[in-house]
Amino acid sequence: MSEKIQSVRGMRDILPPETAQWQQLETRLAAVLGGYGYQQIRTPVLEPTRLFTRSIGEVSDIVQKEMYTFEDRNGDSLTMRPEGTASTVRAFIEHGLAQQLPLRLWYTGPMFRHERPQKGRYRQFHQLGIEVFGLEGPDIDAELILMTQAFWDALGIDGLTLEINSLGTAETRARYREQLVDYFTPHRALLDEDSRVRLEKNPLRILDSKNPELASLIAGAPSMADALDDAARAHFDGLLALLSAGGVPYSINPRLVRGLDYYTHTVFEWKTSALGAQDTVCAGGRYDGLIETFGAKPVPAIGFAAGLERLLALMPAPPDELACAADLYVVVVNDNAAASLQMVQALRAALPAQRILAHCGGGSMKSQMKKADRSGARYAVVIGESEVAERRYSLKPLRADAPQETFELAALATRLGQPA
Ligand code: HAM
Repeated sequence: MSEKIQSVRGMRDILPPETAQWQQLETRLAAVLGGYGYQQIRTPVLEPTRLFTRSIGEVSDIVQKEMYTFEDRNGDSLTMRPEGTASTVRAFIEHGLAQQLPLRLWYTGPMFRHERPQKGRYRQFHQLGIEVFGLEGPDIDAELILMTQAFWDALGIDGLTLEINSLGTAETRARYREQLVDYFTPHRALLDEDSRVRLEKNPLRILDSKNPELASLIAGAPSMADALDDAARAHFDGLLALLSAGGVPYSINPRLVRGLDYYTHTVFEWKTSALGAQDTVCAGGRYDGLIETFGAKPVPAIGFAAGLERLLALMPAPPDELACAADLYVVVVNDNAAASLQMVQALRAALPAQRILAHCGGGSMKSQMKKADRSGARYAVVIGESEVAERRYSLKPLRADAPQETFELAALATRLGQPA
């Protein structure tokens, strides 16, 4: 018995007609991005492992448990990118893009994390990400968040809520870290295993714990807001004022710390209540210190990424025509293959916006009409003996009870150019 080969767990095939929904999603997002003057960057899927360990953080879940890391044939340690910020920063430094500030970039593509697969969580998933370099904000922080709102509007997604927080500067975080260590250490015995490790390595992440038994302990912890210095406070207040002016409702979540270590100042997450446990559809924030950690001149930066699988799950049901491949199905019932081919070519040239599926493989009128019907097309275009002789096309509506009519090409184009 031959072995059945299947896709890797947590990595799935996307088949038609779902691929059409993906294209629609990507086209709409790209239109909003273009409208805001953002330009696309494409980076490789494989990167040197230390790029991620140094940026995302040695003790983050991603680096500790989730990366697809392997040695290549040269013995170099490579990692399939778990996110796009680190790669974009690498490219920014490698190509000297600091000469072109400010820079507004976006990317899309697959990301890889070895998480436990469940609804809305995959090991290969897709993100749309934004990274902006060279702007200190808070005006750019507000622009980014307003643009996410424009995404939801363009996709017809509503009911998302925006949570926002400020992590202040690296110094604020260091001070706050001390406060958390002082607070949690006397309660060490109450902490779970994960949180004990975090207490040593990154106590802020304890605030992120989903363990309900820790909820009241965490609720009593000192608040980040009290640790912010005046400049960080002013940045955050400035952003909140702009969000109000821009008409984007938000709620401040002082426990929002994010799972990646590079953030400073603004962090935010868009949440949904419609997808169960995987409730964050888009998340990001400022990372003013990251570029400097790679030895380059410091450049302020901010970005976010949205999970495309989660956005698709929230989009309204697609219209029927997305599920079919064609608007017109050409039925070929004559013996002149060359003339038929030329007529189909002329039809395609005259109707570039129509999706034209030309029948291949012969067969009776009846069997071809059945296929035309099954294709979902609105019309069959019949090319029979008389049509070839007269260089005319017969149009048969498939979704309406209307008679077949015969047209010359120009008249057919006019007829189909009219709204159905
Ligand atoms: P992140 O929060 O790790 O941030 O991921 C962003 C989004 O990607 C999540 O909110 C979620 O929608 C989606 N996502 C993450 N993991 C999975 C998964 N296993 N399956 C399905 N969807 C997933 C980042 O990646 C940062 N690079 C965002 C950023 C850009 N910050 C600054 N610039």
